[in-house]
Amino acid sequence: MRLSWKINLGLMLAISTVLVFQAHQRLGREVALFENDVRRDHHVMGRALRNAVEDAMEDAGPAAAIDLVRRLDARDDGLRIRYVELDASDPALRPDAPRYLLDPVGLGAEVVHVDQAGDPGWLYTYVPIALPPEPETALELRESLASQQAYIRATQVRIAEWLVLMIAVSWAVVAVLIRWLVSGPIESLIAHARRVGRRDFASRAHVGSHDELGELGRELDQMAAALQAADQRLVTEQEAKSRAVDQLRHADRLMTVGQLAAGVAHELGTPLNVAQARAKMIASWDVDDEEDARGNARTIAEQCDRMTAIIRQLLDFARPRALEAGDEDLAAVARAAVGLVAPLARKRGVSLDVVSTSPVGARVDRGQLQQVLLNLLSNALHATPPDGMVHVVVDEVVACPPAGEEGRFARLCVRDTGAGIPPENLPHVFEPFFTTKDVGEGTGLGLSVSHGIVRDHGGWIEARSELGQGTTFEVYLPPASGERA
Ligand SMILES: Nc1ncnc2c1ncn2[C@@H]1O[C@H](COP(=O)(O)OP(=O)(O)OP(=O)(O)O)[C@@H](O)[C@H]1O
Ligand SMILES: [Mg+2]
Repeated sequence: MRLSWKINLGLMLAISTVLVFQAHQRLGREVALFENDVRRDHHVMGRALRNAVEDAMEDAGPAAAIDLVRRLDARDDGLRIRYVELDASDPALRPDAPRYLLDPVGLGAEVVHVDQAGDPGWLYTYVPIALPPEPETALELRESLASQQAYIRATQVRIAEWLVLMIAVSWAVVAVLIRWLVSGPIESLIAHARRVGRRDFASRAHVGSHDELGELGRELDQMAAALQAADQRLVTEQEAKSRAVDQLRHADRLMTVGQLAAGVAHELGTPLNVAQARAKMIASWDVDDEEDARGNARTIAEQCDRMTAIIRQLLDFARPRALEAGDEDLAAVARAAVGLVAPLARKRGVSLDVVSTSPVGARVDRGQLQQVLLNLLSNALHATPPDGMVHVVVDEVVACPPAGEEGRFARLCVRDTGAGIPPENLPHVFEPFFTTKDVGEGTGLGLSVSHGIVRDHGGWIEARSELGQGTTFEVYLPPASGERA
């Protein structure tokens, strides 16, 4: 339940209790006053009648007095009047005489009595009167309580209406006050907190009051300003970190280029020798005819194209680029990388191949993934003795990421038959600068950079190794856009 509703309910309960109590008191007071008035009037009327009856008795005798009482009783004003005879010593002989009149206290006294037994009940007034020959006689005035009850009911309705009106007015006033003083500022603070949560640090609380909520608003404003400053610092630090990672990746790329250089130089040697020999033949005109010279020139041009392609591949790889993921065929990327390290493999006497039954689409940055593959291939070639084998297998599998749900992933495996990684080293191979190579041979950056690149693609790398048997690195990558499960 909302706080404003709770406060509203609590206040209304308290106010309603007070109002109901007040209404009850007021009703009690008014009814008591009214009943007192009615009794007093009845009593006064009884006395006045007694005087009139006594005067009639004095002037014209008991018969006239009795006649007067009968005439008064016959009037149609709801007031019944009669004589009652009292005899305290023998109440059984006077069954119509009210018992309380026979009570020694009431006997001979003026009594106003309410009889609630029936509905609506009766109001009795007894005024003692001496009516010879009966000395213990009283004049009884009897009146129905119907009009009195009607008045009390009307008073109850009036007070109930007043109560409802007061509760409604109180509720409206309390609701407006709570909205103005509590829920309005709180909603404004919640909206402000949400905006700050959405990184809108320029947002302000807009609570102008000088109470605790206003203070909270000002504190939130200060917190937003502090968060804005921290966020700015974070952005700056992230930019610096991202620049450092880019530089690291570029350094790793250049290192790979360096490692490839020997193989590339060897690869360039053959076409260079061919071109040189053919050029010399043309220069010394050691050709049969013009057609033969043209043939040699064409060979030179072909060899130059071959060398240009090799150098372009290397330059392409060395050039720094930002991550631009697109749908690529992993098998094609693997074949291109294998092409780059093929001279190195030949030089080491290691056989190298790509196994892929069908194209496997993945959403990757071709250049960056090539860097990963070259790092893995370079490690594999380094660890594999002559006559060993390095396979690159490309396929698609259902796998479960270290954090996330199971799904379809494109997979690249680089498997070698090399020396393997000792179990104690395996958990550390992805750590930056972890290397078992001699100084100058390796920096220990290859796998950590590759790990970062694959993670940036939304994938992950796993390593398995058996000493003396070989090592397998598995790279899992998100499938191409059209192939997502
Ligand atoms: N295929 C593999 N077979 C055996 N050991 C491996 C293999 N791949 C990696 N390693 C081990 O993991 C270590 C870390 O590899 P990583 O590629 O990060 O660095 P490096 O190859 O030593 O140096 P760099 O790649 O920076 O030239 C290697 O030194 C090696 O001990
Ligand atoms: Mg390496």
